[in-house]
Amino acid sequence: MENRIRAVGILGTGKYLPEKVLTNADLEKMVDTSDEWIITRTGIRERRIADPEMASSDLATRAALDALEDANTSPEELDLIVVATVTPDVFFPSTACLVQKNLRATKAGAFDLSAGCSGFLYTLAVAKQFIATGTYNKVLVVGVEVLSRIIDWTDRNTCVLFGDGAGAVVLGPTEEGKGILTTVLGSDGEGGKFLTMPAGGSKMPATIETVQNRLHYVKMDGSEVFKFAVRKMHQASIEALELSGKGIEDIDYLVPHQANIRIIESASKKLKLPMEKVHVNLDRFGNISSASIPIALDEAVKSKKIKKDDLIVMVAFGAGLTWGASVLRWNKES
Ligand code: UT7
Repeated sequence: MENRIRAVGILGTGKYLPEKVLTNADLEKMVDTSDEWIITRTGIRERRIADPEMASSDLATRAALDALEDANTSPEELDLIVVATVTPDVFFPSTACLVQKNLRATKAGAFDLSAGCSGFLYTLAVAKQFIATGTYNKVLVVGVEVLSRIIDWTDRNTCVLFGDGAGAVVLGPTEEGKGILTTVLGSDGEGGKFLTMPAGGSKMPATIETVQNRLHYVKMDGSEVFKFAVRKMHQASIEALELSGKGIEDIDYLVPHQANIRIIESASKKLKLPMEKVHVNLDRFGNISSASIPIALDEAVKSKKIKKDDLIVMVAFGAGLTWGASVLRWNKES
């Protein structure tokens, strides 16, 4: 999918995490679980929960402002806003349009993209094309989720895993040979049933029964998703590296989707990467679906774990089922 007319880089990163912390001890009071089970099976210690009056567009706007400041870019300069989310404020208008309004990004087009936890990498790949071809110069990409609104807080299989937050990047042209080098995206709709929210769409519109049967919540077959994730994290990373003419020995830093520490450790082991070269924040934030990679990236850059000219791999898997990996030559002084 490489059509490199102009090199495209990340000009700035940003994030927003709600202040409210929900710990494993809090969850022990809500469902039949334990801090020990959650830590050993997932690595998660706590997660953030958005205030009731905040929706995805509010979190996304804060992350976007942070990224715009970092990129030294004003909202009026944006040509396009793309938001990856599975928890939009409403079905329509898109969350991207609400962010456009909040930012007063007067010349920007705006749309949402849904690819589950791979959403950010899908969005990045799509947004890149507009800049590579010279159509646009500045594109804002946001991954945002308020998963706490679609979690069944009585289901211990899922409620311990997820959290709320937003991450954003501003894309623009960069030096040749730098920025986003390659991206691979994949999907397998046969696996869609393993991670889904059954009701509320055109297949099963909301009724009293769908609400009573708790069908407006996330349903997941955890072990199927786990097996798929372990396989795809490795495969997608290798494919993206090969496409860019690089090998696993060239990786300086891995920014993986933050779902489960056992999945991340397995991927880093297969990629022969020590854990010091792998970003982990799921202990503090849990799984924030499409927001997890841009938040992790922002942390890694701002804590100087990523430096100019480093080779970065970002890799994700999620509902769809979907997967994706991007290889970047970091183009910015941190
Ligand atoms: O971003 C994509 C989104 N999803 C994922 O990435 C999820 C991927 N999957 C996973 O991370 C793991 O499969 C889980 C963390 C969801 C589950 O871990 P597991 O090691 O695969 O456990 P399991 O599903 O095999 O369940 C083992 C046991 C079961 O009990 P029984 O049937 O063996 O008696 C579960 O009922 O653990 C039980 N269990 C729990 N126990 C205490 C499941 N959830 C909990 C819980 N607390 N929260």
